[in-house]
Amino acid sequence: MDSILVTGNGPLSGQIPIAGAKNACLTLMPATLLSDEPLTLTNAPRLSDIRTMTELLGSLGAEVSQLQDGQVLAMSSHDLNNHTADYDIVRKMRASILVLGPMLARDGHAIVSLPGGCAIGARPVDLHLKALEALGAELELKDGYVHAKAPGGLKGGKVDFPLVSVGATENALMAATLAKGTTVITNAAREPEIVDLAQCLQKMGAQIEGEGTSTITIQGVDRLHGATHPVVTDRIELGTYMLAPAICGGEVELLGGRMGLVGAFCEKLDEAGIDVRETEKGLSVKRRSDHVKAVDVTTEPFPGFPTDLQAQMMALLCTADGVSVLEEKIFENRFMHAPELLRMGAQIDVHGGTATVTGVDRLKGAPVMATDLRASVSLILAGLAAEGDTTVSRVYHLDRGYEHVVRKLEGVGAKIERIKEQ
Ligand code: UD1
Repeated sequence: MDSILVTGNGPLSGQIPIAGAKNACLTLMPATLLSDEPLTLTNAPRLSDIRTMTELLGSLGAEVSQLQDGQVLAMSSHDLNNHTADYDIVRKMRASILVLGPMLARDGHAIVSLPGGCAIGARPVDLHLKALEALGAELELKDGYVHAKAPGGLKGGKVDFPLVSVGATENALMAATLAKGTTVITNAAREPEIVDLAQCLQKMGAQIEGEGTSTITIQGVDRLHGATHPVVTDRIELGTYMLAPAICGGEVELLGGRMGLVGAFCEKLDEAGIDVRETEKGLSVKRRSDHVKAVDVTTEPFPGFPTDLQAQMMALLCTADGVSVLEEKIFENRFMHAPELLRMGAQIDVHGGTATVTGVDRLKGAPVMATDLRASVSLILAGLAAEGDTTVSRVYHLDRGYEHVVRKLEGVGAKIERIKEQ
């Protein structure tokens, strides 16, 4: 397995281009299953999770061609010949469950393995299943698979989520576009990726109102047609690289960044003493002094502070002046980066869903291990400012969600290299 070697190397300067959002792309791709006409995505990120979704769609009979070095995904589902999403693919990536709603809505039947995915808590799919039941689906769990049927087609209904779920909102939204009648989703997720999905579905002919608010209303239509859609900017990649100059000093411009994607995160950066400025091409980030201040952070659904930036924010706060308290409200067991940061000299106490971080002067390089996608990049950020060398192993986690991480950070002056396994 490859590893990444990072050597603390002082201030950074330059520009980093931000890719299309992995999480948006992973829900836009299954939208191809809703129509027999082509769906083309532009601004797609080049990531292993996207390859996994390509493999999954291919196994169902959809065609996915990668054009322009993978930045364009030309998809067609005119000939779906298999309605079973197999465990061997689904276990690699939890977002695979997003093929369930579209397949069921279009053809009235689907069998999907229960997913695996990141080891960040139990992560059930009950809300996805309840939402589809509210649209008239008949579901049965057998041998680790969800067997779903809607013999007369799905019917519009009321989907009221007891808690906010991004994936379940996406599944319900896609399924409802082809259901007969009106569907109202309440307590819907409001993430930019949901808005992006709704906009793509609207281009395909879907009747959707209220995306970006907690109530989404969908008027089902008989069929959806083809469309071309650019994937929204990746707000998590954006936030991650915004932290690089915050941690190391210097000034970095994030190309394609927008304040609206990272509002709550920018408020916390401001509190910590970091300036974020809008430029013609994106956002520019610089810390106001050498000392970053401790801040308290609680993760919440959008528009709150994203759980997917919690690990990276912790890397920053490890060397802040004072004590920061991070509360993880979305996923249990999402502090696996803390023991690795401790190996680098951080002072962190974890109690349940709360981590208390006492800032130290400087972290020290160490061999560390990536445990999940966002944890792995937090270790790279920590390594950028640490004294000496940090080797991050198990970087396959990183390849799931960050394209060209070495090239992007090298481009702003970081000392970083990928060590290929012999
Ligand atoms: C998506 C993102 C992930 C991000 C998360 C929260 C993708 C591919 N992944 O994941 O990067 O961290 O949103 O912003 O878009 N839950 C249930 N039952 C369900 C579904 C979820 O109890 O059926 C719980 C989860 O365990 C979690 C909470 O709801 O505690 C929120 O999860 P959810 O928003 O569904 O996350 P994902 O869509 O899986």
